[in-house]
Amino acid sequence: MAERPGWASGDMDLERPSVARIYDYFLGGAHNFAADRAVANRTLRAMPELRGVVLTNRALLRRMVRHLLGLGIRQFLDLGSGIPTAGNVHEIAHRVDPSSKVVYVDVDAVAVAHGRSILVDVPNATALRADVREAKTVLESAEVRSTLDFDQPIAVLMIALLHFVPDSDEPHRLVAEYLDPLVPGSYLGVSHSGYEDGEEGEGAARARRTYSEEVARMTHRNRAELAGLFGDLEIVDPGVVRMPYWHPESPDDVDEAAARFPGFAALGRKR
Ligand SMILES: C[S@@+](CC[C@H](N)C(=O)[O-])C[C@H]1O[C@@H](n2cnc3c(N)ncnc32)[C@H](O)[C@@H]1O
Repeated sequence: MAERPGWASGDMDLERPSVARIYDYFLGGAHNFAADRAVANRTLRAMPELRGVVLTNRALLRRMVRHLLGLGIRQFLDLGSGIPTAGNVHEIAHRVDPSSKVVYVDVDAVAVAHGRSILVDVPNATALRADVREAKTVLESAEVRSTLDFDQPIAVLMIALLHFVPDSDEPHRLVAEYLDPLVPGSYLGVSHSGYEDGEEGEGAARARRTYSEEVARMTHRNRAELAGLFGDLEIVDPGVVRMPYWHPESPDDVDEAAARFPGFAALGRKR
């Protein structure tokens, strides 16, 4: 039996690996259990570069939030936000404008409990526990309604989320449900695991199978499939690109491996 730390409420199943806690482990966080670390280490053995992939994704999130702030966005709905860690959306946004509004949404109990605990004394930011596939529940929640102003642009973030939404859960419809009630000039920011067809190596495929079987089913999408999820949003510069190429901070951040990076990012603007 895993030892239960004070922050893990009695209804949390510590023996069942969780997407959020495994991601926390990859990022070097402390909110994970033996069951999470066991699967994480098995996937890392198959795909040792995975930890770097996760760090690159987290860096992409920070760049995208800063970019959105530069575009004048002051409201963020962060779907599948994960366990809070360095460089959370509200920290970046409040450094630029303390009146920025942020709502974090995650299905994971640890992510939301920890989110709420760090937000206790933080105005303009809150966390909601919900399944993002239930868009109506999220959009009509007290957290969203009391924090976000739907008469002003909002950035919806789906960072490393949609590969957990299989085609059978209609990710196109889900994106539309979140963007439909927003005013023009709102944005959708996405990062997503995936390759161009035939690119996935043997180790990466093994890691994906382990993860899908033991944690949560992963659906990789290629560049065209990801572009398709943006519907009639205008995908802004630089388009759908491998994550390191999305507005890199320095040309040195885009090394040789970036051209084969196993994931894409894009930002879409509502017309
Ligand atoms: C890989 S983590 C990404 C965290 C953060 N967005 C980032 O990129 O740093 C994916 C997160 O999505 C959450 N998630 C997956 N499916 C979800 C769903 N249907 N509803 C809400 N959250 C979900 C997981 O619990 C996890 O915290």
